[in-house]
Amino acid sequence: MNEHDLRLRSSRQPRLERPEVLDVGVVDVEFGKDVTVVQPVNLYRCAIGDGSFVGPFVEIQNGANIGRRCRVQSHSFICELVTIGDDCFISHGVMFINDPFITGGPAPERALWRKTKVGNHVSIGTNATILPVTICDGAVIGAGAVVTRDISVSGVYAGNPARLLRRLPATR
Ligand SMILES: CC(C)(COP(=O)(O)OP(=O)(O)OC[C@H]1O[C@@H](n2cnc3c(N)ncnc32)[C@H](O)[C@@H]1OP(=O)(O)O)[C@@H](O)C(=O)NCCC(=O)NCCS
Repeated sequence: MNEHDLRLRSSRQPRLERPEVLDVGVVDVEFGKDVTVVQPVNLYRCAIGDGSFVGPFVEIQNGANIGRRCRVQSHSFICELVTIGDDCFISHGVMFINDPFITGGPAPERALWRKTKVGNHVSIGTNATILPVTICDGAVIGAGAVVTRDISVSGVYAGNPARLLRRLPATR
């Protein structure tokens, strides 16, 4: 074994420090009737309305609100200051953002975080990223879209930044 191999081997030795390990779980969540949650999830101090479904590996943070009959598919992240209406579909890996780095990096205080409001009957495609915005009822957001501006006209939006592809009737 040469010196290089020895150094490689020693860098692979397990470290002895113990990290602080916190468990995921369901803590102080206000559930409506007939809610289904597939573990493991990390849901804390949020509210989830009647008939909604939350898939595995989802995190929903403090104060977030999910309406009735919503589906939140696996691997999505719904952060503090997000409100989602009724009958919404949040597909896999949708990421919400509350800290837009207004000061050029992570906000030094929560007062600089911004809220997001998603209306009713909104569908958000897989892997979309939603910055702090308002999205009107009936909007459809494409897979991989990055929503940077408020959406106030019901329609299909896609791309980065998300742009209107076509309008949809407001009530469907
Ligand atoms: C955005 C979406 C709803 C559009 O569907 P559509 O109205 O049938 O649109 P089309 O397929 O006719 O595409 C129209 C144009 O938008 C583009 N486009 C479609 N989806 C796109 C997307 N997600 N991102 C970027 N561009 C997209 C197409 O390439 C096409 O461009 P072109 O006119 O230059 O060829 C759909 O493509 C999508 O992303 N759905 C999300 C599905 C999903 O995540 N499901 C999760 C459950 S598995």
